[in-house]
Amino acid sequence: MIQELMGWDFNTAFMDYGPFWREHRKVFHQSLHPVAAKQYTPHITKTTHSLLKRFLNDPDPRKIMPHLRYMAGATILSIAYGIRTQQENDLYIKTAEDAVHSIAATAVPGAFLVDSIPLLRYVPAWLPGASFRRKACEWHKLARRMLEMPYAEVKRTISAGTAIHSIVSENLERIRARGKDKDPSEDVIKNVAGTLYGAASDTTVSAITSCIMGLLENPHILRKAQAELDSVVKTGHLPDLEDQSSLPYITALAKETLRWREMEGCRSDYTENEYNGYHIPAGAIVIPNAWAMLHDESVYEDPFMFNPDRFIDSATGKVDFSRARDPAHACWGFGRRICPGHYVAFSEVWLAIASLICVFDFEKAKVQKKNADGEMEEETAELTHEYVSALIVLRVHDSCWF
Ligand code: HEM
Repeated sequence: MIQELMGWDFNTAFMDYGPFWREHRKVFHQSLHPVAAKQYTPHITKTTHSLLKRFLNDPDPRKIMPHLRYMAGATILSIAYGIRTQQENDLYIKTAEDAVHSIAATAVPGAFLVDSIPLLRYVPAWLPGASFRRKACEWHKLARRMLEMPYAEVKRTISAGTAIHSIVSENLERIRARGKDKDPSEDVIKNVAGTLYGAASDTTVSAITSCIMGLLENPHILRKAQAELDSVVKTGHLPDLEDQSSLPYITALAKETLRWREMEGCRSDYTENEYNGYHIPAGAIVIPNAWAMLHDESVYEDPFMFNPDRFIDSATGKVDFSRARDPAHACWGFGRRICPGHYVAFSEVWLAIASLICVFDFEKAKVQKKNADGEMEEETAELTHEYVSALIVLRVHDSCWF
């Protein structure tokens, strides 16, 4: 349903291993390795400051998630295409959000019979019972719009000489410099950029929201982080990514966030192998349990506690992974499919957390409740810690989806 009928075959995360996937991975690597990722610091800084403005203009706590989603969308559109999104109701964000939501709805296992009986894809759309074909057609248009519209905009700005540096502009320049017969092809560049929104938005929002939840449950951690920011960031200034080495507690907080509520979504498809005396036949599906690795008591003391101090050396006050392993060993996935955006992702999460804590206070809402005598009383609301599954759907085999 997703790949063929809805037209998401451009998405690198859904591609099988092979030469075509490798061409895409090469572009991700060239554009997002640690040095290249630094070029996107101004993009991240600008969209983080816009997030603060949006919070200040509209501080309704119920808007936290939409504000964060908007920031994550604006950041990735800026990095991928150099598009400066509108402060509100941006057409590029709206299109990408609609497209990503369409696949989140479809990805529920068993939602569409055509995933189990592929022959059904040939059923004509007008037949009764073929509503999936009509839906797929509508969603296909959305996916194409998400892929084509921002790409066309970069090409327009390049021709006009007004393009802002981005993954697409950089790679089109590479083609111009090397000639069209050298990789990457334009299709690969377009696919890579089109993959980024889905890969980068839910994950980043989920991480920042988890941090806010951790802080709401642990006000002493919020105070400690604010004290560190107050001692380093000058009055009237905001933290920036250059401050990372002077703000170890914020770094430990970002690391703990990625460990505490890590996003699952990893899979591997191995050839025949032997591991610890176990025979793994070719084609077996091996799903590394990143959650277990990041909550292993022998590696992380009291693993379900939100505790950035586990990554701080109490003698020096510096970040230290000798007592608790750096969560990067598991939170970005593994091996060939490891998250290619993780340098950008960490910077984005770090700066959003530092900036939000620097400017705002977070505390649990007060709610009015009737007491036993029927009188209204103010009470502190409890957090539910409920998460919803979203777009972390990855291809394992033709017949198997997670
Ligand atoms: C906190 C934020 C993020 C987390 C926790 C995260 C985590 C992950 C994980 C666990 C995977 C699957 C790896 C595997 O299969 O072994 C993945 C894949 C991917 N991520 Fe991220 N990610 C984040 C943000 C980003 C950002 C900001 C970008 C882009 C700039 C990005 C780009 C990608 C891409 C393109 C893939 C698919 C790679 C492939 O299939 O070859 N991610 N990510």
